[in-house]
Amino acid sequence: MSRMCRLMAVTAITLSPFAVAIAQTDDAVGRGEYIFHAAGCAGCHTDKRNDGELLAGGRAIDTPFGTFFGPNITAHPEQGIGTWSDQDFIRALRDGKSPDGSHYYPSFPYTSFTKMTDADMRDLKAYIFSLPVSDRPNQPHDLGFPFGIRALLGGWKMANFNAGAFVPDPAVPDDVNRGAYLVEALTHCAECHSPRTRLGGIDQDMFLAGTEDGPEGELTGNLTPHETGLGDWSDGDVLFMLRTGILPDGDVVGSLMGEVIDGTSKLTEADQRAIIAYLRSIPPIDNQIGEPSTGGGDIF
Ligand code: HEC
Ligand code: HEC
Repeated sequence: MSRMCRLMAVTAITLSPFAVAIAQTDDAVGRGEYIFHAAGCAGCHTDKRNDGELLAGGRAIDTPFGTFFGPNITAHPEQGIGTWSDQDFIRALRDGKSPDGSHYYPSFPYTSFTKMTDADMRDLKAYIFSLPVSDRPNQPHDLGFPFGIRALLGGWKMANFNAGAFVPDPAVPDDVNRGAYLVEALTHCAECHSPRTRLGGIDQDMFLAGTEDGPEGELTGNLTPHETGLGDWSDGDVLFMLRTGILPDGDVVGSLMGEVIDGTSKLTEADQRAIIAYLRSIPPIDNQIGEPSTGGGDIF
């Protein structure tokens, strides 16, 4: 679909420039709902293209290693995670390990979710367990050799994964810490907006600097404050983008980023601004992705 068509389709159906933060209740379920949207759990676990039930799994995720299918994470006792304890759930997100001790593939971005606090993980589980259950059975991933061998993931994790909750930096303002938590632990921007090493880990020297080789072969822009990144965007431009998916030139982001916007549009304005404060605070990296922007006004 052309970008212009996307703009019309998306603005007509899902996005409103006046999207407001969801009214959460201040209990575990309400707090968990907020985390759930910020972290985008529905995306990979809901087969939206085929009208699949929420979190019932079956969504195909194409990667260079093969196709993954998000599993059923509803609270169904057999097909979902209904029998899991809080500890099982925390271990999956923190350590990338299943209740039987086997390793998960990093196509499940526990590499970012590991930074969530225990309290947020518990609230998230309470919300997921408050949703309708589905008995949809899981389907096996379709991976090339040798990626189908789960045991090899132990080595991958030793080289590419550090488990542990986010630790605030006392030297930076509160909003920057809050933004760091939102970006690094929840909204996991770096999973798509960073180049990867040969082994598929996030290239830490190019953290958030964008890549020509992003998810599903898409380009993802440089989010650092360099002029090849968000340096020329005003705070208002970034805020409007996080709420609507509309870029400063009037273009609109595509489907993967659209799912992220589904979540960021539901955050409070304070949290949206905290994301911006954090993105302004990271080191600028010179990395032009695609053509330099021609500036606004070519559509309207
Ligand atoms: C980018 C896609 C993606 C996102 C976003 C994502 N997941 Fe997953 N998740 C997966 C994939 C793929 C697997 C299967 C991994 C495997 O088989 O090793 C998985 C596995 C899981 C499992 C293990 C299920 C089981 O039966 O063992 C849980 C629990 C889970 N995800 C919860 C979540 C939660 C909670 C969120 C939001 C915080 C989330 N996921 C966001 C892709 C994703
Ligand atoms: C699931 C992958 C994914 C995640 C997570 C993600 N993005 Fe993106 N983002 C994309 C893709 C793909 C594009 C390009 C969209 C297009 O060209 O239509 C994009 C585009 C953008 C753009 C427009 C500049 C550009 O790349 O053309 C900005 C700004 C942006 N994302 C910011 C963010 C922020 C901030 C976060 C975290 C809150 C985030 N993204 C998380 C995939 C992702």
